[in-house]
Amino acid sequence: MSLPVSAKQMTREVDRRRTFAIISHPDAGKTTLTEKLLLYGGAIHLAGSVKSRRAAKHAVSDWMELEKQRGISVTSSVLQFPYKEYAVNLLDTPGHADFSEDTYRTLAAADSAVMLIDSAKGVEPQTIKLFKVCSMRKLPIFTFVNKMDRFGRPPLELMEELEQVLGIRACPINWPIGAGREFKGIYDRRLKKVIMFDSEGTHGESVVEERMIDIDDPQIERLLGPERYAQLVDDIELLEIAGDPFDLARVRSGELSPMFFGSAMTNFGIGPFLSAFVEMAPSPAEAQTAAKLDPTRTDFSGFVFKIQANMNPAHRDRLAFVRITSGRFERDMQAQLVRGGRTLKLAFPQQFMAAEREIVEEAYAGDIIGLYDPGNFRIGDTLYTGSPVEETDIPRFSPEHFSVVEVRDALKRKQLNKGLDQLAEEGTIQVFRQPQLGDLDAIVGAVGMLQFEVLKFRLEHEYKVIVTLRPLNFRHARWVEGEGYDEGVFNRADYTKVLIDRDGLPLILFRNDWAINYCKQQYPKLRFLPNPPGTPGLEELHGAFSF
Ligand code: G4P
Repeated sequence: MSLPVSAKQMTREVDRRRTFAIISHPDAGKTTLTEKLLLYGGAIHLAGSVKSRRAAKHAVSDWMELEKQRGISVTSSVLQFPYKEYAVNLLDTPGHADFSEDTYRTLAAADSAVMLIDSAKGVEPQTIKLFKVCSMRKLPIFTFVNKMDRFGRPPLELMEELEQVLGIRACPINWPIGAGREFKGIYDRRLKKVIMFDSEGTHGESVVEERMIDIDDPQIERLLGPERYAQLVDDIELLEIAGDPFDLARVRSGELSPMFFGSAMTNFGIGPFLSAFVEMAPSPAEAQTAAKLDPTRTDFSGFVFKIQANMNPAHRDRLAFVRITSGRFERDMQAQLVRGGRTLKLAFPQQFMAAEREIVEEAYAGDIIGLYDPGNFRIGDTLYTGSPVEETDIPRFSPEHFSVVEVRDALKRKQLNKGLDQLAEEGTIQVFRQPQLGDLDAIVGAVGMLQFEVLKFRLEHEYKVIVTLRPLNFRHARWVEGEGYDEGVFNRADYTKVLIDRDGLPLILFRNDWAINYCKQQYPKLRFLPNPPGTPGLEELHGAFSF
């Protein structure tokens, strides 16, 4: 056991944490940017390793096979790297087009987000969806306009698009000088300096040389040429007059997005972005976190936002990803689980560095650790030491797609149930039973259709069970609470179907909105809840994501 940490040290550790996620449409360059952030953080020495890491993962995990086949990123990873005096935690959000709860939960563990935009494409559909999730959480959003080494859309037009499509004002922190092959540098509006990049001898595999020159220095005009120089002076003036002034409070409340330009491929603009980002992004103490606790209190607390099994089929391991919300975590420490009140030893804690997983000895509020999980945890579980804390508020979505799981080989039923249980605990799907049928023909519910594909794939590859999913024509699930609930009534009607969830609580599937409204009128003493009753912090989000 190490010595207790002083309040001063705790504050220092928490203050230097930055925990964020990158949100983007597929192909905008998220993988490339991630790699370059690691490069600039000194976590890797030559760019190119994230891709090979990605390839290596494909080789060891069936799970990744689905990603490869579909060309989507279904899993999310967590990476920690140092930058200057900061400890940066980067959460990777799944980038597939079908919205899943996983994305929301990952963003619940982040204190800010970087919205990555392709300079030629601007705001794309997946950018909009993810942006909405962030703005619901009031996350500070930083915009990075990527691929400036290609000829894209004018920067002013992109700024306008942010406002018109997303409704957020942008405040450019830097401004591009030229585009395409002529992208030579940026103007840093805070420093009032031009930063010129030197690409000699590098194709983005190592940190790029930067030359900083005062905007009033006469050599600027000569370096840029009279035309580009005049354009820059005009742009700067326009931004000063018409743009929003930088206002950290508005950034922190998610109303104003600091905007950056660069090229993840050539590394142009990565350094200036990262150094401004760590200064402006909130520390866990300044952020609106899902758990409303003082992160610098010495008692440890954290919540599980993701569970992932079979990351490596050779070990059949299951990891619970915990965002630390307060205090210090120490390897092998004991902590209490709010649900059920059990005390657990937090063994084999892992952190994810650029190269591989590492066993972590200590971690602080803002960090993410992966705990070995023999089946103790559920999504949303909260852990603590010392004085009790409340369950963390991770909103859950009510499922909107339902299917009956049919298995051809009856001898596989045990395997199937194990797989369904496991995947339900991970939060991939919800599993329901039909009261009359017991263990037979489970019904699964999900927020997006993609989750059904993931379910089928994983049951087949991890549990060796081939299933058929027979879609049901119902659109909503409602848990029932209140006086006078009569199962028979709802079972007889053809617009409802009665089920029970894994905790034995009754719920009803409804064909459509009309059916819900009708039942509300018919049974005023009953309450129809989009999520299980009595579960803390669950809220109805139906409709918020009907894009
Ligand atoms: P994603 O994770 O967001 O899906 O994007 P990823 O980084 O995989 O990048 C998608 C494509 O865009 C890749 O090209 C990548 O090289 C390219 N890219 C990323 N950043 C930049 C940039 O700043 N400028 C330019 N010009 N291209 C960029 P690819 O051809 O699909 O793959 P690869 O053969 O280059 O690996």
